[in-house]
Amino acid sequence: MRMLEGKSVAMTGGGGGLGLCYGVAMAKAGASVAVSDINPTAAQATVDAITKAGGKAIAVQGDVTKAAAFEELFDRTEAAFGSFDVLLNIAGMFPRCPVVDMTEELWDEVITLNLKSVFLGARAAMRRMLPRKQGVILSTASGTGIRGQPKGSAYSASKAGIMGFTRAASLEILNSGVRINCFGPGATDTPLWRVGKSEEDIKRLLAAGNVYQPDDFSNVVVFLASDLSAPLNGEFISRDLHR
Ligand SMILES: NC(=O)c1ccc[n+]([C@@H]2O[C@H](COP(=O)([O-])OP(=O)(O)OC[C@H]3O[C@@H](n4cnc5c(N)ncnc54)[C@H](O)[C@@H]3O)[C@@H](O)[C@H]2O)c1
Repeated sequence: MRMLEGKSVAMTGGGGGLGLCYGVAMAKAGASVAVSDINPTAAQATVDAITKAGGKAIAVQGDVTKAAAFEELFDRTEAAFGSFDVLLNIAGMFPRCPVVDMTEELWDEVITLNLKSVFLGARAAMRRMLPRKQGVILSTASGTGIRGQPKGSAYSASKAGIMGFTRAASLEILNSGVRINCFGPGATDTPLWRVGKSEEDIKRLLAAGNVYQPDDFSNVVVFLASDLSAPLNGEFISRDLHR
């Protein structure tokens, strides 16, 4: 039995490096996937990859900093697949910038995209899932939220915020049938990871073996989305926290 057979997943940032791999992995595990991204071409590329792998998917263009984007995404998910079982929040950004150079605008942009979007998505999903007494909300945090990283103050704060939000929200939905968790996939070679790095840096870091490939964590995400992880609620599941 495939782990996500009969489930439907709404995924934000689905056109990115991790979204592509997680979307295909979830489809291979039996899920139908609504792929949302602000970039419609990127969303469609993930849909094409899922379809090529034998799965079912639709593309939905949307900006996750707006509450209305989630209502549209969930409406479209339910209309296409007849249910909405899992929200996977992936959309995010990581501009490298020291605190002394950080503008208020850039700070707000990072916190709004990375953290407020998780609140907006979880709130909208919980309003639909709680009356049905079932559903899973997953968000992409990062070990950086605990460890910190130079030039990553807003990013680290946003990811620590996701962990605090997830823990608090989980306490409000204990024993409801709905659960909420977040995860950190570790430093992974995607467009987001390459931001601010020279070609030389990228080669050196890849050669040192400290960077993961986007598909490496896919099966953990499938597990977290599935009923097999039912005892987990309010957790942060991370790979490289102690490195
Ligand atoms: N790559 C890593 O090393 C790493 C490590 C830990 C956590 N993460 C987290 O994983 C998530 C995905 O990262 P990635 O590496 O795949 O990055 P990516 O840049 O490849 O993908 C991000 C996606 O988000 C989309 N997006 C940006 N703004 C949006 C908006 N307003 N509305 C909707 N979509 C929007 C982009 O179009 C893009 O497709 C992020 O939350 C990131 O913080 C990444």
